[in-house]
Amino acid sequence: MRKILVTNALPYANGPIHMGHLLGYIQADIWVRAMRAMGHMVTYVCADDAHGTAIMLRAEANGITPEQLIAQVQQEHERDFSQFAIEFDHYDSTHSQTNQDRAAEIYIKNRDAGHIAVRPVSQLFDPEKGMFLSDRFIKGSCPKCKADDQYGDSCEVCGTTYNATELLKPRSTLSGATPVEKSSDHYFFKLPDFKEYLQKWTRDEGRLPTSIANKLDEWFEAGLTDWDISRDAPYFGFEIPEAPNKYFYVWVDAPIGYMSSFENYIKSKRPDLNFDDYWKKDSQNEVYHFIGKDIVYFHALFWPAMLEGANYRTPSALFVNGFLTVNGQKMSKSRGTFIKAETYAQHLNPEYLRYYFASKLSDKVEDSDLNLDDFVQKVNSDLVGKVVNIASRCAKFINKDFANTLAAEVAEPELIQSFIDAGEAIIRAYEQREFSTAIRDIMALADRANQYIDEKKPWALAKQEGQSAQVHAVCSVGINLFRQLAIYLAPVLPKLAAQVQDFLKLERFDFASRQQILAKHEIATFQPLMQRVDKKAVDAMVDASKDSLTQATTTENSSHKKQKNTQNPAKTPAATTEQIQIDDFLKVDLRVAEVIAANHVEGSDKLLQLTLNAGEAEPRNVLSGIRSQYAAEDLVGKLVVLVANLAPRKMRFGTSNGMVLAAGNGEGIFIISPDQGAQPGDKVS
Ligand code: MSP
Ligand code: ZN
Repeated sequence: MRKILVTNALPYANGPIHMGHLLGYIQADIWVRAMRAMGHMVTYVCADDAHGTAIMLRAEANGITPEQLIAQVQQEHERDFSQFAIEFDHYDSTHSQTNQDRAAEIYIKNRDAGHIAVRPVSQLFDPEKGMFLSDRFIKGSCPKCKADDQYGDSCEVCGTTYNATELLKPRSTLSGATPVEKSSDHYFFKLPDFKEYLQKWTRDEGRLPTSIANKLDEWFEAGLTDWDISRDAPYFGFEIPEAPNKYFYVWVDAPIGYMSSFENYIKSKRPDLNFDDYWKKDSQNEVYHFIGKDIVYFHALFWPAMLEGANYRTPSALFVNGFLTVNGQKMSKSRGTFIKAETYAQHLNPEYLRYYFASKLSDKVEDSDLNLDDFVQKVNSDLVGKVVNIASRCAKFINKDFANTLAAEVAEPELIQSFIDAGEAIIRAYEQREFSTAIRDIMALADRANQYIDEKKPWALAKQEGQSAQVHAVCSVGINLFRQLAIYLAPVLPKLAAQVQDFLKLERFDFASRQQILAKHEIATFQPLMQRVDKKAVDAMVDASKDSLTQATTTENSSHKKQKNTQNPAKTPAATTEQIQIDDFLKVDLRVAEVIAANHVEGSDKLLQLTLNAGEAEPRNVLSGIRSQYAAEDLVGKLVVLVANLAPRKMRFGTSNGMVLAAGNGEGIFIISPDQGAQPGDKVS
């Protein structure tokens, strides 16, 4: 029996799970279920990635400790994963004692083997905040084209890359202070020590998708450099052993979280498993990491090098997913396509999404598109129209006329056998992560099953005298075919599969169990299995996604993780938004309003409840997603701009009557406030 450990990339503990994340998590979960259905032993773990500057600052802005923030976010993440039937054996946090111990051990082994260097680095320092600034927290004018408001690493106007120290008129985005250059010792992991090892490693058979191995060759050619693994205090993370006030950069202890989550799983739930069996150097067991394409550098270079340097085994392979677009474009809050897992689950059945993603995924590192019209069409025609339909057409006769029992004599044994035989290719496709091929094959079988029933017309036979045995035979074949399909779809649709298993009263539902044809078998009363997708529910989900003013996940800047920035809708040039006419603008009734009271909203870390005087007879109640940036008490007395004629919006926490204008750059939310002299009720135009 193969023993396999599977991990998913650890989501940052500073933002909600969204559709883009789900692509990789659903992909891994399907693979795990399929491998188990083949009879392999699979352990599947994950954790929240809890460290780093972004999380520290987010907690600070929310007025809570980082520990409180990560506990709260972890709960939300686990809730979201379970909604989508992403079933980890264990879900942990990188902020654990086990992880700290393991990180220290791996570091010390590398250090003692000579792979760590220490040297001073001069960096910009925020004298007001008392902290060093990564490029992301510095803005200024581009040294080349002089464009204002550019980040510390590159200019979005002319594309030049530079050092933050070269920016003109630099300022800290945290305090507004002018940063000063300051030097401190940094710890480096000597990646070039592993050049030959990695060059071979990345070309090992099956280790990486070819396109990624090619990309790595470019990186080797460009030359590997030492990796700065330390951050100065204040930093939310683990202190480096024997290096006071120096912390491991989040990307050091993040992948070590794969090991420590597994270790905590053993400690807490599975003493029969052995850590070394999976992680010692010559382990024969398999370890796979599912990751998105933006974090390949960390997983294909730093991670195997750190493991090798500490004398551990390296992953058997990396499975890399491309990025998700929605309706052909980057996810966007203004278009309502930045859809959180939570919002989706409030409107639609998560299994629809699992099916849709499966129908698109292959072993290639290609981007996938969630086209919402295609989504509705595909789910309705495939799952409801083809698959579920087979059962509903056949079951009612078995239930009503044949005492819930399938025929003793199996008609059409060749037809059923051909469905069983087709499973070989489907199972292979799953194993190779060619899910789209598996789905295509399964749907071809569904077409054949429907064709068979259409030809035999049990509903017509049932009305004819003396055809009862024939009805029984046909419907029993139909149920057998349906059962084959449900077994094949089970890794993708675990909830549906569980319902079918109950309905068919089957003890086993793994792939091998399909060999046993069902004859004279008792079934339960058929219950409707899956509803059609209502386009209205999709529209409502998009609307609700427009509502949420939550911030985009901010991540610490990393030159290897550039695509992260593209997720930040505020960075999309204004020129790409649709032009409107003055009449469109005049439809918006903007009014000056004064904040009379501001309160926290029970159960929400995003919202503040504002009571506004907008010069009307009654005060207005508005829910605003600004809690991360503003303390409630600081708002009282402030003038704001209110969208006064916005239709009331029912939110989970009450109804919001209007909206308060704020600017956002993905890193913060800034309320727009009229100058002094403006009065509540004044029209803004
Ligand atoms: N914390 C790191 C991973 C550490 S692993 C030791 C991280 N977190 S993340 O929250 O930004 O992303 C988690 C996973 O979601 C990553 O695999 C990332 O590639 C993936 N995706 C995030 N946005 C995505 C899309 N829009 N589309 C597809 N995958 C995306 O990176
Ligand atoms: Zn420039």
